[in-house]
Amino acid sequence: MPIKKTSTVAKGLGVNNSKSAGATSSSVSLKIQLTELKKRLIDISHLNTALGILYWDQETYMPTKAADSRAENVSYLAGLSHKMFIDLNKDKLLSKLKAALDEKLIKGKDAVIVYHTWRSYEREKKLPEVFVKELSYTTSKAQHVWAEARAKNKFELFAPWLSKIVTLKRSEARYVGFDKKNGSPYDALIDTYEPGTTTAEISKILNDLKDFLIPFLKKIKDEKEAQEKTKNREGKQIIQTEDIPIAKQFEFNTQIAKTLGFDLEAGKIAESTHPFSTGIHPNDVRFTTRYKTDNFFYAIGSTMHEAGHALYEQGLPAEHFGTPLAEAISLGIHESQSRMWENTIGKSKEFSGWLAKQIQKEFGDSFGENSASVLNAQNLYSHINKVNPSFIRTDADEVTYNLHIVIRFEIEKELIEGSIEVKDVPQIWKSKMKDYLGVDVTTNTLGCLQDVHWSCGLFGYFPTYSLGNLYAAQFWNSLIKENPQAYKQIAKGEFKEILAWLRKNIHAHGRTYSASQLVKKVTGEELNSRYFAEYLEKKYKDIYGI
Ligand code: CO
Repeated sequence: MPIKKTSTVAKGLGVNNSKSAGATSSSVSLKIQLTELKKRLIDISHLNTALGILYWDQETYMPTKAADSRAENVSYLAGLSHKMFIDLNKDKLLSKLKAALDEKLIKGKDAVIVYHTWRSYEREKKLPEVFVKELSYTTSKAQHVWAEARAKNKFELFAPWLSKIVTLKRSEARYVGFDKKNGSPYDALIDTYEPGTTTAEISKILNDLKDFLIPFLKKIKDEKEAQEKTKNREGKQIIQTEDIPIAKQFEFNTQIAKTLGFDLEAGKIAESTHPFSTGIHPNDVRFTTRYKTDNFFYAIGSTMHEAGHALYEQGLPAEHFGTPLAEAISLGIHESQSRMWENTIGKSKEFSGWLAKQIQKEFGDSFGENSASVLNAQNLYSHINKVNPSFIRTDADEVTYNLHIVIRFEIEKELIEGSIEVKDVPQIWKSKMKDYLGVDVTTNTLGCLQDVHWSCGLFGYFPTYSLGNLYAAQFWNSLIKENPQAYKQIAKGEFKEILAWLRKNIHAHGRTYSASQLVKKVTGEELNSRYFAEYLEKKYKDIYGI
């Protein structure tokens, strides 16, 4: 269905454009070229739709024995998609359009399409095929080695593979190019995930954040210790007294996603060990959640997070499907949407109050005899916002999470810049964990081997998680000014107006603006860590009285 729809869009554009009255012959040919580019982009999107569904199937329902044949399917189709992408410039189509763009002959939405397509094309073109194959082969092998190294707590198994990957990523930076005088090779890698953002900008923002977070965390720790000796401000403990079956939790979580505004007729939810979301088309957006029968809140956080990603994908303009106008801006902006729903909204006192009522109604019995007096806004708010410095990034609270990211960013940046060596990573990791979080890392499994990213070659990806938190706080500050009733609405379980604001200000634009342009447009200033710091200060003043 969606495939048919997008083809019609392209044809429609072609007919209208070529008939436009009074056009000069060169503008007619420009319009024909633009129509041809859109047609080629949509052809690629059909293949990418198939790849998206294969990927979804692989992560959710695929029988384990199908792994090898599926890997072959995916690799063949991905190769084909890459080839079609390079063929965008067949007959110099893309080059001609880029020249017209430079001469300002292309404007508005068409300019957005040509600009982004040219940018991605140029990057792809610069990478020799033999390099792409070697990187893909090395990272696919390295992921298995990493899994084994992590299970056995043996960094030395993974180290030679990590060295190979670092060397390859440094080559990638050289192929792609970067400002050798003032820039960093890491710039070329970030550009894949956060286009247009530089290492220097990220360093500045994350350093500011670190300067705030380290003393802030210390203050919370001291206050917690003092309170343990005197009285506990954390309120009554919420204790789950019996297991809640996954099927029932699934129903409950699906209901939450629906209440937030996730359209179940344009999306699906499933279960998987590693929650993820995938936007195949704005009318076909899927995500997964993971469950623990003895920890009801475990799934809710991941549902809210992935639903946030999914709401963004459902909000992209379907009429431009296949083009950059219907794509997300960057991973950081994507993450701002997931974090806003998961944390800003999902970990607010108002949401806690609403959620506590829903849980009491459906599962009160599973929270002990006096659940009605325990399940309330304040207790749930304290329960889900506890600050506990720990080893694992994905388990981290809102205060410590970004320090985990700062550590990864500092290490991977220096690896790519060549100022540290792979063999020193475990030690550097341990000393940073001690300095920033006060945590003594006992094993590499709980340390530098915990995340899959480096084995996949995803250098430059980690900072987008923190950028997401910062964008979210800054966007929220603007949202709340325009919709001062937002918290009252959350308390009532009403999210329509909040979603409408996100749709209008962020989702509907696709890639019309860069991340930094969008932040300026929506908030009136450049991205900074101030709003996030203020948000944390307010929240933890409330919880710990600091
Ligand atoms: Co995410």
